[in-house]
Amino acid sequence: MAIQKELIQALAQSDVFAEMLENRMKGFWNPDYFEKIVLPQLTLKAGDKVLDVGAGNGALTLLLARYFPDVHFTGIDITPALVEDGKKIAQKLDVQNVEFEVGDALQLPYADRSFDATVCQTVLMHVYDPAKAVSEMSRVLKQGGTFMAAEYHMLTYDKPVESIGHTYSMEEEIAIGRYMQYYLNGYRASGHGDLKIGARVPFFAMNAGLDIVDVRINDRVPHAFPPYEHPSDRNSLNELQTWSKAVKDASFRALFTATIAEGGGTEADATAFLSLHPSHGAEVFNDKGDFAFVWLLYPVLLITIARKK
Ligand SMILES: C[S@@+](CC[C@H](N)C(=O)[O-])C[C@H]1O[C@@H](n2cnc3c(N)ncnc32)[C@H](O)[C@@H]1O
Repeated sequence: MAIQKELIQALAQSDVFAEMLENRMKGFWNPDYFEKIVLPQLTLKAGDKVLDVGAGNGALTLLLARYFPDVHFTGIDITPALVEDGKKIAQKLDVQNVEFEVGDALQLPYADRSFDATVCQTVLMHVYDPAKAVSEMSRVLKQGGTFMAAEYHMLTYDKPVESIGHTYSMEEEIAIGRYMQYYLNGYRASGHGDLKIGARVPFFAMNAGLDIVDVRINDRVPHAFPPYEHPSDRNSLNELQTWSKAVKDASFRALFTATIAEGGGTEADATAFLSLHPSHGAEVFNDKGDFAFVWLLYPVLLITIARKK
């Protein structure tokens, strides 16, 4: 577990991870869904204060801050390198109504009832005590304040349907299921988190004294079709390109291999699993290529909206 923690920190501090998170500001949500479904439920008004927990380098914090220039946003994250990166990106984008701080989701350094909303995006899946993180997010909320968590619940590890026409054989599908189980087990056993957290979040929120207002699934399906004219094509392509970099990155591979081992697999299993990753193939992921895909991984991002009673 100690080794895992170091490996997690190494990945969190890597350039490839920062780049992946920064990209999210553009493509993580479909703008129409975010504007019509998510934003109204936050019920923000001028002068409000919002806390983004596990903000990374600000993908959600900065996205929200640009929608609500009259609201003040604080992004808190345990990884100092990402916090510094968030400050730089805010400066680059000239977003004034944000600040980024280093701190732990399991022990938020704020007084009770100090925020009008607390939000998080793919963070509870990474903390060893998600119930505690949710109770902290509830503690610092004012009465009537809004809680919003967008967290993955991985039903399966689905691959993109590719234009190249490759489909997985039955043996490969069975192997993928086995590798995925090692990965899920390893995540949990190492205290790295839980890849099936999404549907558990409403229960943590209920136990933290929150009134569950809504539970949703994000409607985004990453996809790209040449000549990649639409923003949705370019964002999805970007996303797969950063994954392509990640699977080759030493810190990513070290953490991935250790997680598979912790879950009962071998180094060979980890290598075989990564070689089946859609972004492994490389050349097809340049934007002059004729590569098209539809990736069904992301529909299982669950969004829990709740209110402090
Ligand atoms: C997958 S990233 C998501 C970052 C950001 N929310 C986004 O959507 O881009 C998970 C983040 O959780 C942070 N994190 C992990 N454990 C944490 C903890 N105990 N307290 C605060 N942040 C934590 C990591 O440093 C990382 O930035």
